[in-house]
Amino acid sequence: MHYFETEFIKYKNNELFIENVKVSELIKQFGTPLYVYSKNHFINQYKKFDNAFSEIDHQVFYAMKSNFNLSVINTFVQLGSGVDVNSEGELFRALKTGISPTKLILTGVGKTKDEIRLGLDKKVMMIKAESEEEVELINKIASEMNVIAPVALRVNPDVDAKTHPYISTGLSKNKFGIDSSTALSIYRRRNEFNNIQFTGIDMHIGSQITTIEPFVEAISKMSDLYFQLRNEGLELKHFDVGGGIGVQYNNEKSFTLEEFAERTIPLFKKLNCKILFEPGRYLTANGGILLTEVLYNKQNGNKKFIIVDAAMNDLLRPSIYQAYHHIQPIEQHKDRIDIVADIVGPVCETGDYFARDREIIKTYSGEFLAIMSAGAYGMTMSSNYNARRRPPEIIVDKENVFVSRSRETFDHLLWDEKIM
Ligand code: LLP
Repeated sequence: MHYFETEFIKYKNNELFIENVKVSELIKQFGTPLYVYSKNHFINQYKKFDNAFSEIDHQVFYAMKSNFNLSVINTFVQLGSGVDVNSEGELFRALKTGISPTKLILTGVGKTKDEIRLGLDKKVMMIKAESEEEVELINKIASEMNVIAPVALRVNPDVDAKTHPYISTGLSKNKFGIDSSTALSIYRRRNEFNNIQFTGIDMHIGSQITTIEPFVEAISKMSDLYFQLRNEGLELKHFDVGGGIGVQYNNEKSFTLEEFAERTIPLFKKLNCKILFEPGRYLTANGGILLTEVLYNKQNGNKKFIIVDAAMNDLLRPSIYQAYHHIQPIEQHKDRIDIVADIVGPVCETGDYFARDREIIKTYSGEFLAIMSAGAYGMTMSSNYNARRRPPEIIVDKENVFVSRSRETFDHLLWDEKIM
């Protein structure tokens, strides 16, 4: 088997380290399942992203849905990032970092009245609208509140992002955004919306996208609309590209951020406005691991299973997207053989697995595995299924270990619940 390593999560003398901390020490202290993050990975990724676009007027809005741990959000906020929030809960969390609401974008295909009201009340930088009815509602609420709502339309450019169908969002058959011609007609109605100022145009075509073409195609289509609006006298301040840049989970081919910047900057330069980005996974995925203990090895017929103490409730991605996460022991044993096994959790579902027919070095009960690239859409998609307590989240910064969130207690599971 091969071992997946990054600059900040790698083996030293056959032992897995995250920054300067031995993973086995963390397990001793905090138990498993356990999420651990590398702060400097997050910092590096942010800087790489931000620097790649330094020659154009731009702003990064971290998509906190990928990892909404307060310390993680705050790491990006401290670097100057804005935050893309997708619900009132995310808005509430983001504000806990002390970020100015004027650095928040409020997203979401189905915002409630309360969410719109909250966004306007906090004075977020921009609300993205995803339907004509929503635009009308925003206008009504803004008028009741006697404010002007800054709004961008999320346009669905009808572009195939060539990613997993569940995380593809830019095709007209997807629920997201507004098709170009409807968007144009809404912008044209701008004089009817007394309490809306259209400040931008927005897209987000999907996630874990590993080719540049879909971005180029979508940006080009959106630029046509942008210029048409400008010719009609509507000057937009922002062009929001969304997120979606893919990362490596294994050895899949992808593009580098430098290549992405090189292809897109000329397109952005033609537009006379600020470019907004909403990366999530690019910033967080490879900065996190999920540590788990091997409970049992067993064989049913020809099929081998490694049963671990983490489960689909902790990391859902393999179960719902057949997503690949590399899995490797926290200690390298050069003398052991590889086996082919399913790596599964204790939850009562056949879909509760992390890997199927995976080649992995033989491991024994009581040893530990690291599920790699778990920094994005890991903890944020976790649940309490089977009344399992959610794992702690630890952040490592060089040799410093910070417990950002402790393991849930049994009391958390019973939060405000009563027997009738
Ligand atoms: N902006 C909007 C409006 C989004 O909906 C998303 C992700 C992002 C930005 C950030 O996309 P990223 O840069 O992380 O690709 N749970 C799935 C991914 C769902 C993505 C949802 N929207 C997964 O685990 O693969």
